[in-house]
Amino acid sequence: MMKLGCCYYPEHWPQDVWADDARRMVDAGLSQVRIGEFAWSRIEPQPGVFNWQWLDDAVEVLHGAGLEIIMGTPTATPPKWLCDAMPDMFAHDRDGRQRGFGSRRHYCFSHAGYLEQAKRITRAMAQRYGSHPAVVQWQTDNEYGCHDTVQSFSPAARDAFRVWLAARYGTAEALNAAWGNVFWSMEYASFDEIELPNLTVTEANPAHWLAFRRFSSDQVIAFNRAQVDILRECSPGRDITHNAMGFYTGYDAHDLSDDLDILGWDSYPLGFLEMFRFSDAEKLQYARQGHPDIAAFHHDLYRGCAANERWSVLEQQPGPVNWARHNPAPLDGMVALWTMEAAAHGAELVSYFRWRQNPQAQEQMHAGLLRPDGADAPALAEVTDVQAKLEMMQAKGEMAGDGGRDAALIFSFEAEWMTQIQPQGEGRSALWAAFDCYTALRKKGLNVDIVRPGSDLSAYQLAMVPCLPIVGDECLAALEQFEGQIIIGPRSGSRTQDFAIPHSLAPGGLQDIIRLEVTRSESLRPGLVHDGGTWEIAHWLDHVEGEAQAELTAKDGTPASYKHGKARYLATWPSGAVLDEVVARALADTTLKTHDLPEGLRIRRDSKYLYVFNYCAQTRDIPSSISGDPMLGDRRLLPASYAVFAL
Ligand code: GAL
Repeated sequence: MMKLGCCYYPEHWPQDVWADDARRMVDAGLSQVRIGEFAWSRIEPQPGVFNWQWLDDAVEVLHGAGLEIIMGTPTATPPKWLCDAMPDMFAHDRDGRQRGFGSRRHYCFSHAGYLEQAKRITRAMAQRYGSHPAVVQWQTDNEYGCHDTVQSFSPAARDAFRVWLAARYGTAEALNAAWGNVFWSMEYASFDEIELPNLTVTEANPAHWLAFRRFSSDQVIAFNRAQVDILRECSPGRDITHNAMGFYTGYDAHDLSDDLDILGWDSYPLGFLEMFRFSDAEKLQYARQGHPDIAAFHHDLYRGCAANERWSVLEQQPGPVNWARHNPAPLDGMVALWTMEAAAHGAELVSYFRWRQNPQAQEQMHAGLLRPDGADAPALAEVTDVQAKLEMMQAKGEMAGDGGRDAALIFSFEAEWMTQIQPQGEGRSALWAAFDCYTALRKKGLNVDIVRPGSDLSAYQLAMVPCLPIVGDECLAALEQFEGQIIIGPRSGSRTQDFAIPHSLAPGGLQDIIRLEVTRSESLRPGLVHDGGTWEIAHWLDHVEGEAQAELTAKDGTPASYKHGKARYLATWPSGAVLDEVVARALADTTLKTHDLPEGLRIRRDSKYLYVFNYCAQTRDIPSSISGDPMLGDRRLLPASYAVFAL
């Protein structure tokens, strides 16, 4: 059964409240507690001088109350003495300025000296707590990349980048040829001449940027792996996790997950709604609930990244946060709904951030399950309630499993790097193309898996490739073998490994499947559209030649989509009504059971239950395509409520 937990910072509170905190956690229905991830200055107040006593005591108190512990390595917050001893360990920002001490994540992934320090503190912690019976899981560091920290433009990063390039390309001539450096006389005679791409006069070569993005991601993976190796050695049998972020693509989470046992992510639906690309109308409509696909998209994305599909929510918003443009409180019921949605997607844990609101320092306006004075905050009762419901559902039998794989969305982090490097039209992003395709499928009531390129697709009836500039051999083979319907979006197959247009033109190898070639691409400013009646061609338009037949054509004769056999090509950007129309046509060619869900309603099936979630601030009736009476909740769903049907 999915467990509930919280993030706790014993070092923030007097020791005499710990036992009461632990008891109240257990009383509230929590069984896991995540600690330690920022506590370096208390663990090692001076170089080599460790103060374990307080943490030993905290571990015993929590263990004594029956809580399991997820122990974090504190490498996101190197202490002042360490920074002073090694002042070149800071990352440099894109303008080349050195970042400083006084918050967190102030290190450069490429600094060899800091890596040694990170390994040293990881080993010390793993040796101390690695075999403690309460410690069931380790979290490496905290949110790699938070506060824009994956890319560093430091001398250490530059030197490491040169080594990375030499390993990848062998010779400067090979690199010049791969990148097309004869253009603008950018040729290099040796790897030592190559700088980072940040301070060029105008845009750097996109191949240069892509190499730097790949390198920066690899540095994160290597930094993480160094900790993982130590934890495996000193704490055998414990799971290792890391907490990924929302709408964040700075490193390749598929690669990171390959080294972990379970992938976590941090779910702040209201903060993400406010900070990301949603329209003002959506921000208002969902201000206290979050857009209905924000949490689910990441559940399905990170499940697809995780080894054996093991994933969790390591931080769950319990009330207002402090870091978005506006920070409203969730509607009553939302914290429980978010928790149940995580269960519906197969999470192993939802851990609320944080236990008690801290009256001091940067996050004093960030809610916890307790108020700063220690009284219950509103979310606490919801947590207890949802825990009781989870137990009731669990009592009916074994753990719920896979509830049917309807549609696969193929997504790569590299695709998003490429559309960031070369958007070609404002706002055109592979990540948001994936999100919009996800929404289009979820509005039809489907279970959606977001999978890495090359994944086996045989369990699905529909595969979507929203925007995948590089289509590797494995991905192509999986699509060629796939017997279901395929939708391919613009820019897919449009680039080689080194960011060149393939000689065969886009969609490259996918031409075997869709039988067309893109002869010209244009991006369209707002208002420049081709009207299709109920839909329009907007933002992007590919002009194509080939055997594939136009399927959707605008009134002026401009095709929006093409079809060949089981495959469709979307020649315009995957968003809005044209996307819904192409999805509807592809679904009509499958035997999938679909629903027309009212705005704000979403469903999810696992092997035992069908869940219906109302993300609206208004009451919604469950549509008649879902029959019967729910075992939890009601067919009339109040705002921020859910129903569960036994299957
Ligand atoms: C996360 C972070 C936590 C805390 C939280 C506040 O990004 O991992 O440490 O800062 O945000 O919402």
